[in-house]
Amino acid sequence: MTLESTPDSVVSETTIVPGDEWWRSAVIYQIYPRSFADSTGDGVGDLPGITKRLPALAQLGVDAIWLSPFFRSPQKDAGYDVSDYTDVDPLFGTLDDFDRLLETAHSLGLRVIADMVPNHTSDQHRWFQEALAAPEGSPERDRYMFRDGKGPNGDLPPNNWESVFGGSMWDRVTNPDGTPGQWYLHIFDKSQPDLNWENPWVREQFFGILRFWLDRGVDGFRVDVAHGMIKKAGLPDYTPPAEGASMGGTGTSAVDEDDSVPSIAEADTVLAPLIGDPEPAPEPPYWGQEGVHDIWRGWHEVLAEYEGDRVLCAEAWVDPLEKVALWVRPDEMSQAFNFAYMFTDWKASALKRVITESIDAFGGVGAPATWVLSNHDVVRHASRLALTADSPQGAGIGPLSPGKPDPVLGLRRARAATSLMLALPGSAYLYQGEELGLPEDMELPDDARQDPTWFRTNGEKYGRDGCRVPIPWESDKPAYGFNASGKSWLPQPKDWAPFARDAQEGIPGSTLSLYTDALRLRREHGLGTGALSWEPGYGKKVVAFRNGDVLVLTNLGKVAVELPVGDILLSSEEITGGALPTDTTVWIQL
Ligand code: NOJ
Repeated sequence: MTLESTPDSVVSETTIVPGDEWWRSAVIYQIYPRSFADSTGDGVGDLPGITKRLPALAQLGVDAIWLSPFFRSPQKDAGYDVSDYTDVDPLFGTLDDFDRLLETAHSLGLRVIADMVPNHTSDQHRWFQEALAAPEGSPERDRYMFRDGKGPNGDLPPNNWESVFGGSMWDRVTNPDGTPGQWYLHIFDKSQPDLNWENPWVREQFFGILRFWLDRGVDGFRVDVAHGMIKKAGLPDYTPPAEGASMGGTGTSAVDEDDSVPSIAEADTVLAPLIGDPEPAPEPPYWGQEGVHDIWRGWHEVLAEYEGDRVLCAEAWVDPLEKVALWVRPDEMSQAFNFAYMFTDWKASALKRVITESIDAFGGVGAPATWVLSNHDVVRHASRLALTADSPQGAGIGPLSPGKPDPVLGLRRARAATSLMLALPGSAYLYQGEELGLPEDMELPDDARQDPTWFRTNGEKYGRDGCRVPIPWESDKPAYGFNASGKSWLPQPKDWAPFARDAQEGIPGSTLSLYTDALRLRREHGLGTGALSWEPGYGKKVVAFRNGDVLVLTNLGKVAVELPVGDILLSSEEITGGALPTDTTVWIQL
């Protein structure tokens, strides 16, 4: 890497000249295999179903797909509870099916990223079963986080940590002779025991697992809970702040019509608060510990043995962005999800600030900024952007939630937000179904719910099922073309026909057409590899910037804004009378 200075008008003061790896500007489409396409008709999506639908993604114009876990798993947390990292769960197919998927994707020019889940295994994994059968203090037990309980008989958990999914982070095992035994740690469900990453044996196992998939040809990994694998020495008690302590931010995206937001000229220095401002709460003793970085240096070296710029993407829920950037230093991972961006309020000043900070923080270590609005853990942004009440991340929204979003407003804002996002330099993540404008399913019946969050909080939190409902392909087919049988592991809403892919394909103004056009223009104008400079003169409620030969304007105010003369390349809503209406993004050729 070499040093270079950039003109003052360009946001990033990047001093490291980055490489030209494909992932620096890639648009990566997340497939949630359970809900994408089902070839067998059992109601759960599978790998052959995905393979058959890959041409639709090539047509959409994305560069890569990320597959949420398809490994062998009891499916207690929808596959994020792995019992064998080197096999495909029969629910999703076989290793041959995976090879066919990979080959088809590559032949279509799509790269494939697998989801690695190293923080914890399933309790059904052979390693954990062997640990249970082995005595206290044995090497088998040392693969996981076993500890003695507190109190005279060890009846109390070793500390007060609370699981992300609710309840204690500890469960007690029963010894082979029937007596109560030690406790084991699980940040998530009790069926997901945390591995002990201080143990070199664990590290070695994962080098082998990475190589197994790299040898098969995967283009990299999204790494689950990349911030949680090392726990603070001594496992001290910790009491989280009242809300939002789980996987990240608050998930609130209500609009703030505060008129005191800074002017464009001030925007670089006086900016609206991001999550966690002004002083981020102290990091919990199980998140973001310094020791995790050594693990990523080891993984980096394994990937570097392979040709083709393999990618590592961190799921690291830490705050602030300067800290997230530590995960993507040149000898660690390639990119990290930008959750600060995801949870930024629909407010011009806040967006300007988070964009500036993202480009600076990631650029400062030579990594690309990333952008994301939806995934399988959060309320879909076509609903989230119109919420009028707080919705802590992971809690979801359901029939009794307050502040339910207006679907028309939500979709309008989502289209504007995505059009803004896809014009930013760096790499962007899309979540299956957002290209159809899908909202969160807020009416799932209680007895259909599957997320462990719902069960571990006794229904206090709806959880994440509402964003995981199988997606619609054909408006007049059973299960909207998800499969031929009409079965669906989560029931699909009755009014989703207009969202189906075939109802939107080639229709001017449809959300699918908007995404397809945006992705084509992004490529044609080199926006992913471009640089951003803020454009003054459009007022406090407009996000306005140039990227290469494109001027991008998003109006978050109530009043329409006069547009400059120029060819309109893309607009998230119809433009009439030369003015940019509220909640609309436009790309103008300069
Ligand atoms: C983060 C994943 O995205 C989420 O779906 C999962 O429940 C937890 N990690 C535990 O693996």
